[in-house]
Amino acid sequence: MGKEIKKVGIVGAGFTGKQIAAQTALHDFIVNVYDIDPRVMEDAKKYVTGVLKRKNRMDAIQDVSYYSDLDKALEDVDLVIEAVPENLELKKKIFSLIDNIAPAHTIIGTNSSSYPVSKIESAVKRKDKVLNLHFYPPIPTRPMVDIMRGSETSEETFEKGKQWIKDIQCEPLVVKKECIGFVFNRIWHTARKECLNMWNMGYADIETIDTAWKIFTGMKMGPFVLMDGIGLDVVYAVQMSYYEESGDPRDKPPDALKEMVENGNLGLKTGKGFYTWRRKK
Ligand SMILES: NC(=O)c1ccc[n+]([C@@H]2O[C@H](COP(=O)([O-])OP(=O)(O)OC[C@H]3O[C@@H](n4cnc5c(N)ncnc54)[C@H](O)[C@@H]3O)[C@@H](O)[C@H]2O)c1
Repeated sequence: MGKEIKKVGIVGAGFTGKQIAAQTALHDFIVNVYDIDPRVMEDAKKYVTGVLKRKNRMDAIQDVSYYSDLDKALEDVDLVIEAVPENLELKKKIFSLIDNIAPAHTIIGTNSSSYPVSKIESAVKRKDKVLNLHFYPPIPTRPMVDIMRGSETSEETFEKGKQWIKDIQCEPLVVKKECIGFVFNRIWHTARKECLNMWNMGYADIETIDTAWKIFTGMKMGPFVLMDGIGLDVVYAVQMSYYEESGDPRDKPPDALKEMVENGNLGLKTGKGFYTWRRKK
């Protein structure tokens, strides 16, 4: 086996990138963080410091560095996680940049929610060293990561990726064959789709469905509360991407959901979705 993973680069330090950085720093890796937006970098620094403080791991702070220069950020890294916005062309551009800068042995992983790495790999020469490494934020309460191969990913790359996931105290969810939604997102998609259909067809009230889900699973929130929290625009877009991929009419999100989105009823963030939300003063 080649060099083991000691130093990890994070490219894109937004909502998920900063959480991946914190989880990695907590488990004794050297972490280099990069983002094009200096305000995001400031916020990421505050977030990572806050996590280390809360966990009594301020000793690890010296191993986290923040760079506005990608060349410096990728110096000697063994693994890079790309967490830039969900746009295929942007991801290809970033993969190509990383490929040109990072050492030859470096593994490149994407945190993309919907693109298999096989759609990005044409941007790099090291096709044997790419992976999907998909997190489920908030990472501390959902410590699991989908891991999926590209079309030429080597077994060594895959095994190193899996070991790194374990080393940061997350559960590797191995995707054996390329599929949209990876492991758990695919399961959640099926449940969410059925809940939306039941609501749309008038089979049961949202409160009844949420209650049944909570009693059965022991979870604190039901699917409609979760969807309001995620944002109905996001839920609609994700459902549409499954529908576009499968062409199966049963995957098509209900028109009633589209209407809610068009009317600006996006859930928690706008105060109204499936439920009405009052903001805390
Ligand atoms: N939000 C989620 O719940 C979630 C969950 C799993 C996976 N993901 C995936 O993670 C990725 C990022 O999502 P997010 O929610 O963290 O988005 P985000 O918008 O919070 O963060 C993206 C960051 O990328 C930065 N960025 C943009 N262009 C860049 C560039 N050229 N170089 C470096 N940085 C750049 C932005 O400044 C921003 O800070 C997406 O692919 C998304 O599908 C998101």
